[in-house]
Amino acid sequence: MAEFLVTGGAGFIGSNLVDALLAAGHRVRVLDNLSMGKRSNLPLDNPRLHFIEGDVADAEVVAQAVAGCAGVAHLAAVASVQASVDDPVSTHQSNFIGTLNVCEAMRQHGVRRVVYASSAAIYGNNGEGVAIDEATAKAPLTPYASDKLAGEHYLDFYRRQHGLEPAVFRFFNIFGPRQDPSSPYSGVISIFTQRAQQGLPISVFGDGEQTRDFFYVGDLVALLMQGLLSEQVVSDPLNVGWSQAVSLNQLLAEIGVLCGGLPPLTHLPARAGDIRHSRADNTRLQAHYRMPQQTPLREGLRQLLGL
Ligand code: NAD
Ligand code: UD1
Repeated sequence: MAEFLVTGGAGFIGSNLVDALLAAGHRVRVLDNLSMGKRSNLPLDNPRLHFIEGDVADAEVVAQAVAGCAGVAHLAAVASVQASVDDPVSTHQSNFIGTLNVCEAMRQHGVRRVVYASSAAIYGNNGEGVAIDEATAKAPLTPYASDKLAGEHYLDFYRRQHGLEPAVFRFFNIFGPRQDPSSPYSGVISIFTQRAQQGLPISVFGDGEQTRDFFYVGDLVALLMQGLLSEQVVSDPLNVGWSQAVSLNQLLAEIGVLCGGLPPLTHLPARAGDIRHSRADNTRLQAHYRMPQQTPLREGLRQLLGL
């Protein structure tokens, strides 16, 4: 069994991946600055887990964490698009410099395989009304999207120049257990489900007719495991979505059914740089990966709501 590094491993997606790696018998290092992640997301008493509290923007810390690993899942980033709009300089340190540090540390230490968490945000509004395939023109509307796209380009440079083996996934909207609802920057499903359960008013930015392609975290982890562990991976970036568009209004209706009603809704202006419609064409992913069985939105919501 091998040892893998998961940057951002104390966060939502990262900690779910850590659980899967440990369950498969591997050893895992986690590098996380706990800006969003939590120690309580990790089984710290597992002797096969080594937690390093540190910042991916710190090249020395990253080099130490990478040395001797069989592969890296690079998930550390400020995941909020809105946070990058509000504070581009600081989010760039995590979202771009962190990625460059991972590439450089891997080159130094001869580690090749890296799974990279890119994002549907790089397409901007170019997918309006259609399923977005990977050839769709890129139109990053925010610092978050620009940093993710730049990270893809750097990984490709390190692949061509230094033999890195990047498995690049463009996640659409991931949801599920451990997505932290406590910040206004948090993922919409985590906020809406928590507020519905607590009977607190819900803010909808815009008219609620914007759509997202929601993907359950357990299904994503099955793909990330293949990206880390397969003999070979395709270097072309792959969309991760189910090609199903759900509007926020439809999402709220689902949550209302499961919770037996909804708290009051307030409509606020749409967020700057917010994408209107986002739906993946996942043909390329299906061609290269064993697709997990889909956890439907309602089932995922049930699990989140503890029903
Ligand atoms: P998250 O905030 O729960 O996880 C990110 C983790 O990275 C957190 O634990 C945080 O503390 C850590 N982190 C942030 N900056 C860091 C730094 N400078 N150094 C070390 N650790 C740092 O968010 P998530 O939803 O689990 O996102 C994981 C990755 O997936 C991110 O790269 C995000 O951009 C990407 N992504 C997420 C989604 C989604 O829908 N959740 C979609 C597309 C891409
Ligand atoms: C999300 C991810 C981002 C990822 C992208 C890929 C988070 C926090 N963001 O961004 O990392 O790269 O998907 O597609 O996980 N909204 C409300 N009310 C709220 C919160 C949000 O109306 O209280 C709206 C937003 O304005 C937006 C939609 O819900 O229209 C989704 O927002 P959010 O969950 O933040 O996700 P994205 O911006 O799509």
